[in-house]
Amino acid sequence: MQPDSSGSGFVVVANRLPVDLERLPDGTTRWKRSPGGLVTALEPVLRNNKGAWVGWAGVPDVELDPIVEDGLELHPVPLSGDEVADYYEGFSNGTLWPLYHDVIVRPVYDRQWWQAYVQVNRRFAEYTAKVAAEGATVWVQDYQLQLVPKMLRMLRPDLTIGFFLHIPFPPVELFMQMPWRTEIVEGLLGADLIGFHLPGGAQNFLYLARRLAGQPTSRGNVGVRSKLGVVQVGFRTVRVGAFPISITSTELDEYSRRRSVRERAAKIRAELGNPKTILLGVDRLDYTKGIDIRLAALEELLHEGRVNPEDTVMVQLATPSRERVESYKQMRGDIERQVGRINGEFSRVGYPVVHYLHRPIPREELVAFFVAADVMVVTPLRDGMNLVAKEYVACQGGLSGALVLSEFTGAAAELRQAYLCNPHDLDSVKDALMGAIDDDRDTRRRRMRSLRRQVLTHDVDRWARAFLDALATDRVAGSALLTD
Ligand code: ADP
Ligand code: G6P
Repeated sequence: MQPDSSGSGFVVVANRLPVDLERLPDGTTRWKRSPGGLVTALEPVLRNNKGAWVGWAGVPDVELDPIVEDGLELHPVPLSGDEVADYYEGFSNGTLWPLYHDVIVRPVYDRQWWQAYVQVNRRFAEYTAKVAAEGATVWVQDYQLQLVPKMLRMLRPDLTIGFFLHIPFPPVELFMQMPWRTEIVEGLLGADLIGFHLPGGAQNFLYLARRLAGQPTSRGNVGVRSKLGVVQVGFRTVRVGAFPISITSTELDEYSRRRSVRERAAKIRAELGNPKTILLGVDRLDYTKGIDIRLAALEELLHEGRVNPEDTVMVQLATPSRERVESYKQMRGDIERQVGRINGEFSRVGYPVVHYLHRPIPREELVAFFVAADVMVVTPLRDGMNLVAKEYVACQGGLSGALVLSEFTGAAAELRQAYLCNPHDLDSVKDALMGAIDDDRDTRRRRMRSLRRQVLTHDVDRWARAFLDALATDRVAGSALLTD
Protein backbone atom coordinates (compact mmCIF):
# COMPACT_ATOMS: atom_id res chain seq x y z
CA MET A 1 0.00 0.00 0.00
CA GLN A 2 1.36 3.47 -0.91
CA PRO A 3 1.24 6.37 1.57
CA ASP A 4 -0.19 9.72 0.43
CA SER A 5 2.74 11.78 -0.86
CA SER A 6 2.31 14.32 1.98
CA GLY A 7 1.91 11.82 4.84
CA SER A 8 2.92 12.37 8.47
CA GLY A 9 6.28 11.34 9.91
CA PHE A 10 4.81 10.65 13.36
CA VAL A 11 1.38 9.07 13.82
CA VAL A 12 -0.48 8.10 16.99
CA VAL A 13 -3.25 5.54 16.58
CA ALA A 14 -5.79 5.16 19.39
CA ASN A 15 -9.39 4.01 19.59
CA ARG A 16 -10.46 7.56 20.46
CA LEU A 17 -9.39 10.90 19.05
CA PRO A 18 -8.43 13.42 21.77
CA VAL A 19 -11.80 15.08 21.13
CA ASP A 20 -15.29 13.59 20.85
CA LEU A 21 -17.97 14.85 18.53
CA GLU A 22 -21.01 15.84 20.58
CA ARG A 23 -24.47 16.04 19.05
CA LEU A 24 -26.52 18.78 20.70
CA PRO A 25 -30.32 18.61 21.07
CA ASP A 26 -30.80 21.32 18.39
CA GLY A 27 -29.07 19.07 15.83
CA THR A 28 -25.77 20.98 15.75
CA THR A 29 -22.44 19.42 16.78
CA ARG A 30 -19.34 20.50 18.69
CA TRP A 31 -16.05 18.92 19.79
CA LYS A 32 -15.35 18.18 23.46
CA ARG A 33 -12.37 16.62 25.26
CA SER A 34 -12.47 12.79 25.30
CA PRO A 35 -12.56 11.02 28.68
CA GLY A 36 -9.76 8.97 30.25
CA GLY A 37 -6.07 8.95 31.07
CA LEU A 38 -4.83 7.96 27.61
CA VAL A 39 -5.96 11.29 26.16
CA THR A 40 -4.72 13.28 29.20
CA ALA A 41 -1.24 11.78 28.72
CA LEU A 42 -0.89 11.69 24.95
CA GLU A 43 -2.41 14.96 23.87
CA PRO A 44 0.49 17.12 25.13
CA VAL A 45 3.01 14.62 23.73
CA LEU A 46 1.52 14.85 20.28
CA ARG A 47 1.35 18.63 20.38
CA ASN A 48 5.12 18.69 21.13
CA ASN A 49 5.90 16.24 18.36
CA LYS A 50 3.63 17.76 15.71
CA GLY A 51 2.11 14.64 14.33
CA ALA A 52 -1.14 13.05 13.21
CA TRP A 53 -3.71 11.19 15.35
CA VAL A 54 -5.87 8.42 13.90
CA GLY A 55 -8.96 7.52 15.99
CA TRP A 56 -12.74 7.32 16.35
CA ALA A 57 -14.78 10.50 16.95
CA GLY A 58 -16.91 8.82 19.64
CA VAL A 59 -20.24 8.65 17.76
CA PRO A 60 -21.48 5.93 15.40
CA ASP A 61 -22.23 6.26 11.69
CA VAL A 62 -20.46 9.51 10.83
CA GLU A 63 -17.90 9.96 8.07
CA LEU A 64 -15.74 13.00 8.81
CA ASP A 65 -12.93 14.62 6.85
CA PRO A 66 -9.54 15.05 8.54
CA ILE A 67 -9.32 18.15 10.73
CA VAL A 68 -6.23 20.23 11.49
CA GLU A 69 -6.25 21.84 14.93
CA ASP A 70 -3.23 23.79 16.28
CA GLY A 71 -0.91 21.92 13.93
CA LEU A 72 -2.35 18.57 15.07
CA GLU A 73 -3.92 16.50 12.29
CA LEU A 74 -6.92 14.44 13.39
CA HIS A 75 -7.99 11.56 11.13
CA PRO A 76 -11.42 10.20 12.15
CA VAL A 77 -12.04 6.47 11.58
CA PRO A 78 -15.77 5.72 11.18
CA LEU A 79 -17.53 2.98 13.19
CA SER A 80 -21.06 1.72 12.50
CA GLY A 81 -23.61 1.31 15.29
CA ASP A 82 -23.09 -2.48 15.20
CA GLU A 83 -19.32 -2.06 15.43
CA VAL A 84 -19.67 0.22 18.44
CA ALA A 85 -21.79 -2.49 20.09
CA ASP A 86 -19.57 -5.45 19.13
CA TYR A 87 -16.02 -4.06 18.88
CA TYR A 88 -16.09 -1.22 21.46
CA GLU A 89 -18.73 -2.10 24.06
CA GLY A 90 -18.41 -5.83 23.36
CA PHE A 91 -14.91 -7.18 22.77
CA SER A 92 -12.96 -4.14 24.07
CA ASN A 93 -15.02 -3.42 27.18
CA GLY A 94 -16.97 -6.63 27.84
CA THR A 95 -14.05 -9.02 27.15
CA LEU A 96 -10.58 -7.42 27.25
CA TRP A 97 -11.18 -4.76 29.92
CA PRO A 98 -12.43 -7.18 32.62
CA LEU A 99 -9.95 -9.92 31.61
CA TYR A 100 -6.98 -7.53 31.87
CA HIS A 101 -8.30 -6.14 35.19
CA ASP A 102 -8.11 -9.42 37.09
CA VAL A 103 -11.64 -10.57 36.02
CA ILE A 104 -13.31 -8.29 38.62
CA VAL A 105 -16.32 -8.77 36.35
CA ARG A 106 -16.60 -11.98 34.33
CA PRO A 107 -15.34 -11.49 30.74
CA VAL A 108 -17.71 -12.56 27.94
CA TYR A 109 -16.14 -14.52 25.06
CA ASP A 110 -18.35 -13.95 22.02
CA ARG A 111 -17.31 -14.97 18.48
CA GLN A 112 -19.26 -12.18 16.83
CA TRP A 113 -17.53 -9.57 19.02
CA TRP A 114 -14.17 -11.05 18.07
CA GLN A 115 -15.02 -10.83 14.33
CA ALA A 116 -15.90 -7.16 14.80
CA TYR A 117 -12.62 -6.59 16.71
CA VAL A 118 -10.63 -8.08 13.79
CA GLN A 119 -12.60 -6.05 11.25
CA VAL A 120 -12.22 -2.73 13.07
CA ASN A 121 -8.51 -3.33 13.81
CA ARG A 122 -8.04 -3.91 10.07
CA ARG A 123 -9.78 -0.62 9.29
CA PHE A 124 -7.52 1.27 11.73
CA ALA A 125 -4.47 -0.35 10.10
CA GLU A 126 -5.68 0.64 6.61
CA TYR A 127 -6.37 4.26 7.60
CA THR A 128 -2.99 4.51 9.29
CA ALA A 129 -1.23 3.04 6.26
CA LYS A 130 -2.65 5.93 4.21
CA VAL A 131 -1.77 8.64 6.73
CA ALA A 132 1.85 7.65 7.53
CA ALA A 133 4.68 9.00 5.37
CA GLU A 134 7.37 6.71 3.95
CA GLY A 135 9.55 5.45 6.84
CA ALA A 136 7.32 7.13 9.48
CA THR A 137 7.11 6.22 13.17
CA VAL A 138 3.66 4.96 14.19
CA TRP A 139 2.68 4.60 17.84
CA VAL A 140 -0.33 2.32 18.40
CA GLN A 141 -2.15 2.65 21.74
CA ASP A 142 -3.97 0.33 24.07
CA TYR A 143 -6.07 -2.83 24.29
CA GLN A 144 -8.65 -1.88 21.65
CA LEU A 145 -6.01 -2.11 18.89
CA GLN A 146 -3.77 -5.08 19.70
CA LEU A 147 -4.01 -6.56 16.19
CA VAL A 148 -3.02 -3.32 14.45
CA PRO A 149 0.78 -3.73 14.73
CA LYS A 150 0.85 -6.97 12.71
CA MET A 151 -1.79 -5.81 10.21
CA LEU A 152 0.02 -2.51 9.66
CA ARG A 153 3.39 -4.20 9.23
CA MET A 154 1.95 -6.36 6.46
CA LEU A 155 0.59 -3.28 4.67
CA ARG A 156 3.62 -1.06 5.31
CA PRO A 157 6.89 -2.87 6.12
CA ASP A 158 8.76 0.46 5.85
CA LEU A 159 7.25 1.83 9.08
CA THR A 160 8.73 1.78 12.60
CA ILE A 161 5.90 0.61 14.85
CA GLY A 162 5.58 1.03 18.62
CA PHE A 163 2.76 -0.25 20.81
CA PHE A 164 1.87 0.86 24.35
CA LEU A 165 -0.65 -0.84 26.64
CA HIS A 166 -2.29 1.67 29.04
CA ILE A 167 -3.99 -0.97 31.20
CA PRO A 168 -2.45 -3.86 33.17
CA PHE A 169 -1.24 -6.89 31.22
CA PRO A 170 -2.78 -9.79 33.14
CA PRO A 171 -1.18 -12.78 34.82
CA VAL A 172 -0.55 -15.66 32.40
CA GLU A 173 -3.18 -17.91 34.08
CA LEU A 174 -5.89 -15.33 33.32
CA PHE A 175 -4.70 -14.46 29.80
CA MET A 176 -4.90 -18.15 28.90
CA GLN A 177 -8.73 -17.96 29.18
CA MET A 178 -8.85 -15.91 25.98
CA PRO A 179 -10.01 -18.06 23.04
CA TRP A 180 -8.03 -15.85 20.62
CA ARG A 181 -4.91 -15.62 22.81
CA THR A 182 -2.41 -16.60 20.10
CA GLU A 183 -3.84 -14.12 17.59
CA ILE A 184 -3.50 -11.31 20.15
CA VAL A 185 0.11 -12.15 21.04
CA GLU A 186 0.99 -12.41 17.34
CA GLY A 187 -0.82 -9.13 16.63
CA LEU A 188 1.33 -7.32 19.20
CA LEU A 189 4.51 -8.96 17.90
CA GLY A 190 4.04 -6.94 14.69
CA ALA A 191 5.50 -3.97 16.63
CA ASP A 192 9.21 -3.15 16.98
CA LEU A 193 8.77 -2.13 20.63
CA ILE A 194 5.96 -3.13 23.01
CA GLY A 195 5.59 -1.04 26.17
CA PHE A 196 3.84 -1.81 29.46
CA HIS A 197 3.59 0.28 32.65
CA LEU A 198 5.32 -2.28 34.87
CA PRO A 199 8.09 -4.89 34.46
CA GLY A 200 5.60 -7.59 35.57
CA GLY A 201 3.40 -7.01 32.50
CA ALA A 202 6.43 -7.15 30.18
CA GLN A 203 7.57 -10.34 31.87
CA ASN A 204 4.12 -11.96 31.44
CA PHE A 205 4.13 -11.04 27.78
CA LEU A 206 7.59 -12.52 27.17
CA TYR A 207 6.46 -15.81 28.65
CA LEU A 208 3.38 -15.86 26.38
CA ALA A 209 5.45 -15.01 23.30
CA ARG A 210 7.47 -18.18 23.97
CA ARG A 211 4.55 -20.36 24.93
CA LEU A 212 1.84 -19.26 22.46
CA ALA A 213 3.76 -17.83 19.51
CA GLY A 214 6.67 -20.28 19.90
CA GLN A 215 9.30 -17.53 19.54
CA PRO A 216 12.63 -17.47 21.39
CA THR A 217 12.86 -14.69 23.98
CA SER A 218 15.35 -13.25 26.45
CA ARG A 219 15.07 -14.68 29.98
CA GLY A 220 16.53 -11.91 32.14
CA ASN A 221 14.44 -9.45 34.18
CA VAL A 222 13.05 -6.38 32.47
CA GLY A 223 13.85 -3.06 34.21
CA VAL A 224 11.96 0.23 34.38
CA ARG A 225 12.90 2.31 31.28
CA SER A 226 16.00 0.13 30.96
CA LYS A 227 16.99 -3.44 30.22
CA LEU A 228 14.45 -4.36 27.57
CA GLY A 229 13.32 -7.92 26.90
CA VAL A 230 13.69 -9.34 23.41
CA VAL A 231 11.56 -11.63 21.21
CA GLN A 232 13.11 -12.96 18.01
CA VAL A 233 10.42 -13.16 15.29
CA GLY A 234 12.17 -14.59 12.20
CA PHE A 235 14.70 -11.95 11.16
CA ARG A 236 12.98 -9.26 13.22
CA THR A 237 13.80 -8.35 16.80
CA VAL A 238 10.85 -7.18 18.89
CA ARG A 239 11.74 -5.43 22.13
CA VAL A 240 9.56 -5.39 25.22
CA GLY A 241 9.87 -2.89 28.09
CA ALA A 242 8.36 -1.13 31.12
CA PHE A 243 7.59 2.59 30.75
CA PRO A 244 5.41 3.99 33.58
CA ILE A 245 3.27 6.80 32.16
CA SER A 246 2.85 10.21 33.82
CA ILE A 247 1.37 13.70 33.51
CA THR A 248 2.47 17.24 32.63
CA SER A 249 3.60 17.66 36.25
CA THR A 250 5.31 21.07 36.13
CA GLU A 251 2.52 22.64 34.12
CA LEU A 252 -0.08 21.36 36.56
CA ASP A 253 2.01 22.43 39.57
CA GLU A 254 2.29 25.96 38.16
CA TYR A 255 -1.35 26.10 37.20
CA SER A 256 -2.47 25.00 40.66
CA ARG A 257 -0.49 27.86 42.26
CA ARG A 258 -2.40 30.57 40.36
CA ARG A 259 -4.31 32.97 42.49
CA SER A 260 -7.60 32.31 40.64
CA VAL A 261 -7.27 28.58 41.38
CA ARG A 262 -6.42 29.18 45.07
CA GLU A 263 -9.42 31.48 45.39
CA ARG A 264 -11.71 28.93 43.77
CA ALA A 265 -10.34 26.23 46.11
CA ALA A 266 -11.09 28.40 49.15
CA LYS A 267 -14.57 29.04 47.80
CA ILE A 268 -15.16 25.29 47.33
CA ARG A 269 -14.23 24.74 50.99
CA ALA A 270 -16.63 27.49 52.06
CA GLU A 271 -19.40 26.08 49.84
CA LEU A 272 -18.92 22.71 51.52
CA GLY A 273 -19.49 24.37 54.92
CA ASN A 274 -15.80 24.82 55.90
CA PRO A 275 -15.35 21.24 57.13
CA LYS A 276 -12.16 20.17 58.91
CA THR A 277 -11.53 17.43 56.36
CA ILE A 278 -12.41 17.21 52.66
CA LEU A 279 -12.01 13.72 51.18
CA LEU A 280 -11.96 13.60 47.37
CA GLY A 281 -12.51 10.88 44.75
CA VAL A 282 -12.10 11.61 41.00
CA ASP A 283 -12.71 8.79 38.54
CA ARG A 284 -14.45 7.55 35.44
CA LEU A 285 -17.44 5.66 36.81
CA ASP A 286 -15.81 2.25 36.37
CA TYR A 287 -16.02 -0.91 38.51
CA THR A 288 -12.21 -1.17 38.56
CA LYS A 289 -11.91 2.12 40.49
CA GLY A 290 -13.21 0.87 43.85
CA ILE A 291 -15.59 3.81 44.39
CA ASP A 292 -17.91 1.42 46.28
CA ILE A 293 -14.98 0.40 48.50
CA ARG A 294 -14.11 3.92 49.63
CA LEU A 295 -17.80 4.63 50.32
CA ALA A 296 -18.08 1.41 52.34
CA ALA A 297 -14.97 2.37 54.33
CA LEU A 298 -16.37 5.83 55.03
CA GLU A 299 -19.75 4.39 56.04
CA GLU A 300 -18.15 2.04 58.59
CA LEU A 301 -15.95 4.82 59.99
CA LEU A 302 -19.04 7.00 60.44
CA HIS A 303 -20.91 4.16 62.17
CA GLU A 304 -17.96 3.53 64.47
CA GLY A 305 -17.72 7.23 65.34
CA ARG A 306 -14.11 7.38 64.10
CA VAL A 307 -15.15 10.00 61.55
CA ASN A 308 -17.39 12.85 62.60
CA PRO A 309 -20.07 13.71 60.00
CA GLU A 310 -20.16 17.29 61.33
CA ASP A 311 -16.60 18.07 60.27
CA THR A 312 -15.95 15.67 57.36
CA VAL A 313 -17.15 15.81 53.77
CA MET A 314 -16.51 13.45 50.88
CA VAL A 315 -16.71 14.73 47.30
CA GLN A 316 -16.94 12.09 44.58
CA LEU A 317 -16.60 13.38 41.00
CA ALA A 318 -17.51 10.61 38.58
CA THR A 319 -17.38 10.95 34.80
CA PRO A 320 -20.03 8.85 33.02
CA SER A 321 -18.37 5.96 31.17
CA ARG A 322 -19.43 3.08 28.88
CA GLU A 323 -23.02 3.59 29.93
CA ARG A 324 -24.57 0.93 27.69
CA VAL A 325 -22.42 -1.88 29.09
CA GLU A 326 -24.47 -3.91 31.59
CA SER A 327 -21.84 -4.13 34.37
CA TYR A 328 -21.46 -0.32 34.29
CA LYS A 329 -25.21 0.24 34.57
CA GLN A 330 -25.39 -2.06 37.57
CA MET A 331 -22.44 -0.45 39.32
CA ARG A 332 -23.88 3.02 38.86
CA GLY A 333 -27.10 1.93 40.58
CA ASP A 334 -25.13 0.35 43.46
CA ILE A 335 -22.99 3.44 44.05
CA GLU A 336 -25.92 5.83 43.92
CA ARG A 337 -27.76 3.71 46.49
CA GLN A 338 -24.68 3.76 48.76
CA VAL A 339 -24.43 7.56 48.50
CA GLY A 340 -28.15 7.87 49.28
CA ARG A 341 -27.86 5.56 52.29
CA ILE A 342 -24.87 7.40 53.80
CA ASN A 343 -26.50 10.78 53.32
CA GLY A 344 -29.85 9.49 54.65
CA GLU A 345 -28.17 8.31 57.80
CA PHE A 346 -25.51 10.92 58.55
CA SER A 347 -26.29 14.25 56.82
CA ARG A 348 -27.90 17.39 58.23
CA VAL A 349 -30.22 19.59 56.17
CA GLY A 350 -28.05 21.62 53.80
CA TYR A 351 -24.91 19.61 54.70
CA PRO A 352 -24.68 16.26 52.89
CA VAL A 353 -21.73 14.11 53.99
CA VAL A 354 -21.19 12.80 50.43
CA HIS A 355 -21.37 15.14 47.44
CA TYR A 356 -21.67 13.04 44.28
CA LEU A 357 -21.44 14.61 40.80
CA HIS A 358 -22.06 12.32 37.84
CA ARG A 359 -20.55 14.43 35.05
CA PRO A 360 -17.15 15.48 33.69
CA ILE A 361 -15.75 18.51 35.51
CA PRO A 362 -13.97 21.28 33.55
CA ARG A 363 -10.18 21.06 33.94
CA GLU A 364 -9.79 24.39 35.86
CA GLU A 365 -12.50 23.41 38.34
CA LEU A 366 -10.95 19.96 38.79
CA VAL A 367 -7.59 21.50 39.70
CA ALA A 368 -9.31 23.67 42.32
CA PHE A 369 -10.81 20.50 43.84
CA PHE A 370 -7.35 18.89 43.93
CA VAL A 371 -6.00 21.98 45.74
CA ALA A 372 -8.92 22.06 48.19
CA ALA A 373 -8.88 18.36 49.15
CA ASP A 374 -7.17 17.30 52.40
CA VAL A 375 -7.22 13.62 51.50
CA MET A 376 -7.32 12.18 47.98
CA VAL A 377 -8.85 8.70 47.99
CA VAL A 378 -7.71 6.40 45.16
CA THR A 379 -8.85 2.81 45.80
CA PRO A 380 -8.94 0.77 42.54
CA LEU A 381 -9.08 -3.01 42.67
CA ARG A 382 -6.77 -2.86 39.66
CA ASP A 383 -5.48 0.06 37.58
CA GLY A 384 -2.71 0.17 34.95
CA MET A 385 -1.32 3.44 36.36
CA ASN A 386 -3.94 5.92 37.73
CA LEU A 387 -3.07 9.44 36.65
CA VAL A 388 -5.48 11.01 39.13
CA ALA A 389 -3.11 10.09 41.99
CA LYS A 390 -0.23 11.88 40.23
CA GLU A 391 -2.41 14.90 39.34
CA TYR A 392 -3.33 15.35 43.00
CA VAL A 393 0.31 15.23 44.08
CA ALA A 394 1.28 17.80 41.40
CA CYS A 395 -1.41 20.17 42.77
CA GLN A 396 -0.25 19.91 46.40
CA GLY A 397 2.51 22.56 46.36
CA GLY A 398 1.31 23.57 49.84
CA LEU A 399 2.24 20.06 51.11
CA SER A 400 -0.88 19.92 53.26
CA GLY A 401 -2.71 17.06 51.52
CA ALA A 402 -2.42 13.29 51.89
CA LEU A 403 -2.85 10.56 49.29
CA VAL A 404 -4.59 7.26 50.10
CA LEU A 405 -3.58 4.87 47.32
CA SER A 406 -4.44 1.27 46.45
CA GLU A 407 -1.48 -1.11 46.18
CA PHE A 408 -3.17 -2.48 43.06
CA THR A 409 -2.47 0.60 40.93
CA GLY A 410 0.62 1.02 38.74
CA ALA A 411 1.19 4.35 40.53
CA ALA A 412 1.78 2.54 43.84
CA ALA A 413 5.09 1.19 42.46
CA GLU A 414 6.40 4.79 42.33
CA LEU A 415 4.42 6.58 45.06
CA ARG A 416 5.69 4.58 48.02
CA GLN A 417 5.12 7.41 50.53
CA ALA A 418 1.37 7.46 49.93
CA TYR A 419 -0.95 5.95 52.56
CA LEU A 420 -1.03 2.58 50.78
CA CYS A 421 -3.91 0.18 51.27
CA ASN A 422 -5.27 -3.16 50.09
CA PRO A 423 -8.73 -2.48 48.63
CA HIS A 424 -9.74 -6.12 49.21
CA ASP A 425 -9.30 -5.54 52.94
CA LEU A 426 -11.75 -2.91 54.21
CA ASP A 427 -9.85 -2.53 57.49
CA SER A 428 -6.72 -1.66 55.55
CA VAL A 429 -8.63 1.05 53.63
CA LYS A 430 -10.12 2.40 56.86
CA ASP A 431 -6.73 2.50 58.59
CA ALA A 432 -5.13 4.27 55.62
CA LEU A 433 -7.95 6.85 55.66
CA MET A 434 -7.57 7.43 59.40
CA GLY A 435 -3.79 7.77 59.05
CA ALA A 436 -4.23 10.31 56.28
CA ILE A 437 -6.84 12.26 58.28
CA ASP A 438 -5.14 12.16 61.70
CA ASP A 439 -1.38 12.15 61.13
CA ASP A 440 0.40 15.28 62.34
CA ARG A 441 1.28 18.10 59.99
CA ASP A 442 4.99 17.26 59.79
CA THR A 443 4.41 13.62 58.86
CA ARG A 444 1.97 14.60 56.11
CA ARG A 445 4.34 17.24 54.76
CA ARG A 446 7.28 14.83 54.74
CA ARG A 447 5.29 12.21 52.84
CA MET A 448 3.86 14.69 50.34
CA ARG A 449 7.31 16.21 49.71
CA SER A 450 8.66 12.79 48.80
CA LEU A 451 5.70 12.07 46.48
CA ARG A 452 6.18 15.40 44.75
CA ARG A 453 9.87 14.73 44.16
CA GLN A 454 8.89 11.57 42.26
CA VAL A 455 6.02 13.11 40.26
CA LEU A 456 7.80 16.34 39.33
CA THR A 457 10.93 14.57 38.08
CA HIS A 458 9.05 11.88 36.11
CA ASP A 459 6.65 13.67 33.81
CA VAL A 460 4.86 12.53 30.67
CA ASP A 461 7.50 14.07 28.47
CA ARG A 462 10.13 11.84 30.08
CA TRP A 463 7.83 8.84 29.53
CA ALA A 464 7.35 9.64 25.84
CA ARG A 465 11.06 10.32 25.32
CA ALA A 466 12.05 7.07 26.99
CA PHE A 467 9.68 5.09 24.77
CA LEU A 468 10.37 6.93 21.51
CA ASP A 469 14.16 6.95 22.06
CA ALA A 470 14.09 3.18 22.64
CA LEU A 471 11.94 2.79 19.53
CA ALA A 472 14.36 4.87 17.46
CA THR A 473 17.50 3.14 18.72
CA ASP A 474 18.99 0.85 16.12
CA ARG A 475 17.74 -2.60 16.69
CA VAL A 476 20.57 -4.61 18.17
CA ALA A 477 21.00 -8.10 16.75
CA GLY A 478 18.48 -10.17 18.68
CA SER A 479 20.60 -13.27 19.00
CA ALA A 480 23.19 -11.33 21.03
CA LEU A 481 20.52 -10.17 23.49
CA LEU A 482 18.84 -13.53 23.71
CA THR A 483 21.79 -14.88 25.62
CA ASP A 484 21.21 -12.67 28.71
P1 ADP B 1 -8.61 6.16 33.42
O1 ADP B 1 -7.68 6.38 32.29
O2 ADP B 1 -8.88 4.72 33.72
O3 ADP B 1 -9.89 6.93 33.30
P2 ADP B 1 -6.71 7.76 35.02
O4 ADP B 1 -6.76 8.12 36.45
O5 ADP B 1 -5.40 7.25 34.55
O6 ADP B 1 -7.90 6.71 34.76
O7 ADP B 1 -7.05 9.02 34.13
C1 ADP B 1 -8.27 9.69 34.24
C2 ADP B 1 -8.17 11.09 33.65
O8 ADP B 1 -9.50 11.61 33.54
C3 ADP B 1 -7.40 12.03 34.54
O9 ADP B 1 -6.69 12.97 33.74
C4 ADP B 1 -8.51 12.73 35.35
O10 ADP B 1 -8.18 14.04 35.78
C5 ADP B 1 -9.66 12.76 34.37
N1 ADP B 1 -10.95 12.65 35.09
C6 ADP B 1 -11.36 11.62 35.86
N2 ADP B 1 -12.57 11.89 36.41
C7 ADP B 1 -12.92 13.10 35.98
C8 ADP B 1 -14.07 13.92 36.21
N3 ADP B 1 -15.07 13.54 37.00
N4 ADP B 1 -14.10 15.12 35.58
C9 ADP B 1 -13.08 15.51 34.78
N5 ADP B 1 -11.97 14.78 34.54
C10 ADP B 1 -11.89 13.59 35.13
C1 G6P C 1 -8.75 4.13 29.86
C2 G6P C 1 -8.28 3.36 28.65
C3 G6P C 1 -8.37 4.24 27.40
C4 G6P C 1 -9.76 4.79 27.26
C5 G6P C 1 -10.19 5.54 28.53
C6 G6P C 1 -11.63 6.05 28.48
O1 G6P C 1 -7.86 5.18 30.07
O2 G6P C 1 -6.95 2.91 28.85
O3 G6P C 1 -8.03 3.50 26.25
O4 G6P C 1 -9.86 5.68 26.16
O5 G6P C 1 -10.06 4.65 29.64
O6 G6P C 1 -12.51 5.01 28.17
P1 G6P C 1 -13.43 5.05 26.87
O7 G6P C 1 -14.02 3.69 26.77
O8 G6P C 1 -14.45 6.11 27.17
O9 G6P C 1 -12.58 5.41 25.70
